[in-house]
Amino acid sequence: MPITGRMLVCCALLSGMAALGFSNLGVKELTVSAKSGDSVSGREIYVNTCIRCHGIDGKGGLGIKLVPPPADLTSLAVQSRLDGTLFRRIHGGKPNTAMGAWKHALSDEEIWDVLSYVRTLGVESGGQP
Ligand code: HEC
Repeated sequence: MPITGRMLVCCALLSGMAALGFSNLGVKELTVSAKSGDSVSGREIYVNTCIRCHGIDGKGGLGIKLVPPPADLTSLAVQSRLDGTLFRRIHGGKPNTAMGAWKHALSDEEIWDVLSYVRTLGVESGGQP
């Protein structure tokens, strides 16, 4: 699918909104956005750190049993969240789940990269709920 000017403008708007919502929450040093996140290096990070729970296609782990189970990253529930929300989930983790805080292992830039890769999982699956 060719990337049209309109799509780019739309992306820029969405990322801008996410960035605004983000800074309102008092999170400082927002220098990179998912818009500029590099999904190619994000894929490397995903394969090294996320795949064992979220699986190669983002739909779940390789026979791993967790309660609650890893989120289906292709699902509408995840894909419909703002970039800022997903960033915070990866950055700070989710309490009482196996989803840990990656802020110690990954830089902010690396988190944006992996997030932009996570976004491609949703596109590839057509964003099924
Ligand atoms: C040890 C297993 C594990 C690893 C490793 C892991 N996750 Fe998760 N992740 C989970 C679980 C479990 C949940 C679901 C929590 C819940 O029920 O909401 C989750 C949820 C998520 C969500 C959805 C949060 C939401 O909005 O509800 C995202 C996005 C996510 N993970 C991204 C990642 C990324 C990116 C990585 C690699 C940097 C990663 N995860 C590594 C277990 C893991």
